[in-house]
Amino acid sequence: MERLPLSSKIIQGGMGVNISGWRLARTNSLQGQLGTVSGVVLERVLARQLQMGDPGGHLRRALSHFPFPSFSKEVEKHFYVEGGIAEGTQFKAVPMFTINPSKLLISLTVCANFAFVWLAKENNPNPVSINYLEKVSMPHIYAITGAMLAGVDFITMGAGIPFQIPNVIESIAEGKPVTYRIPVIGNKIKNHTVSFEPEKFFGEKLPISKKPGFIPIIASNRLANILSGKLPKGSISAFVVELWTAGGHNAPPVEILFGTDGKPLPIYGEKDLIDYKKLTDLGIPWYLGGSQASPEKLQWALSVGASGIQAGSIYALCDESDMYFEIKKTARKLGFQGKLIIRTDMLISPTGFPFKVAVLFGTLSEHDIYESRIRICNQGALVSLYEREDGLIGYRCPAEPIDQFIRKGGDISETFGRGCLCNGLGTTGGVGNYGEPAIMTLGDDLSFLLFLMKDENDSYSAQDATNYLLGY
Ligand SMILES: Cc1cc2nc3c(=O)[nH]c(=O)nc-3n(C[C@H](O)[C@H](O)[C@H](O)COP(=O)(O)O)c2cc1C
Repeated sequence: MERLPLSSKIIQGGMGVNISGWRLARTNSLQGQLGTVSGVVLERVLARQLQMGDPGGHLRRALSHFPFPSFSKEVEKHFYVEGGIAEGTQFKAVPMFTINPSKLLISLTVCANFAFVWLAKENNPNPVSINYLEKVSMPHIYAITGAMLAGVDFITMGAGIPFQIPNVIESIAEGKPVTYRIPVIGNKIKNHTVSFEPEKFFGEKLPISKKPGFIPIIASNRLANILSGKLPKGSISAFVVELWTAGGHNAPPVEILFGTDGKPLPIYGEKDLIDYKKLTDLGIPWYLGGSQASPEKLQWALSVGASGIQAGSIYALCDESDMYFEIKKTARKLGFQGKLIIRTDMLISPTGFPFKVAVLFGTLSEHDIYESRIRICNQGALVSLYEREDGLIGYRCPAEPIDQFIRKGGDISETFGRGCLCNGLGTTGGVGNYGEPAIMTLGDDLSFLLFLMKDENDSYSAQDATNYLLGY
């Protein structure tokens, strides 16, 4: 099976929820860089965009190419609303993922991943990748099937140790049952394996002609060594090595201090540094991510052995990203003025990983907004599986209502400072629940804005960003 080589100097990072949509990935890919569609909760993004009336009809055009039309028609019938739902109306609920998802949720997940990749690749010969968070694991077997049906070229994955992905890719390509082992918090049950038989589900062989390459996102030499040592030779196309200055989730620091308010503060330092020489010696190409968005940094990365950089924030704030326009405009303006504070929040993410938060008025980054939000868990992407007293598997999230979390056996200390990223990031990506406050993430370095914007109200395209990075 064909596999495209990775030859670009820039990977536009995957950015969820719905920040790097198909337009941004497509634009970057057409320009010769690796454009990445965010695959995070795409099933929800598709369901909502269909309910928003699918402006331009792009999603329905993509779905009309889905190889099993009865399934895509069912999805469309269930979620598409001509002209869109009225403003202020709640979206139809998409069921939360469990270890036994419904037929509709499976179809929605496969179709969503198919449609976004298909649109990014429509009349586009260049490679496109899709990004997932390892921690959001229940949809993987369905999501990757959808992306592969659309011919995705690469899969990037961080926020966890993505050991199982090469096997998932192989199984889908070979028409075998696909499995994924998910950790379970419990005494007797330590993990649960979900499985999917695509051929049985669709009743036909899958028309897949390409195995995508695999790009794990890592933050230490140790993880690079483990992955390259344990996975079959050739299964890793490249690494993205992400520094702690990157937007989104970061790797935990080796050292943590506690502030006077009792909150943990990350102390990133020498122990968190990467040995680039040792990394290069593994013989696998690698890209450097995190505050690398300048022509000088790109050249520097190349000089220490990288094949290029992965950049996120510079593309998150460009015209083609799907970030909610008003939030993007404000962030760009404050960033241009040098007034946008970005903090590494050790608590907010239910994943337990540090998460970069942009301090913006009216978002969860503000104490009052955070405190006034009534906890609710109605998306469930970041739940952990746990062993219930009756021996069955339950689902809990430290950002859900505290009494509920404790009733499920969770420890109250885990709930402090947690925020609902599912809802908050959905709002920032323009597909949120009505009334849910946004939360925005960006990397530490926004100095590129001074080179790309004439004044604080200016904007720039993805092409402008790439030209700047390449020194044109
Ligand atoms: C808005 C935003 C959302 C992000 N979401 C994800 C994500 O869902 N998955 C992921 O692996 N990385 C995510 N990232 C990280 C980027 O893919 C990229 O690695 C990082 O932004 C690079 O650092 P930079 O922002 O300094 O360029 C996100 C970054 C931003 C700015």
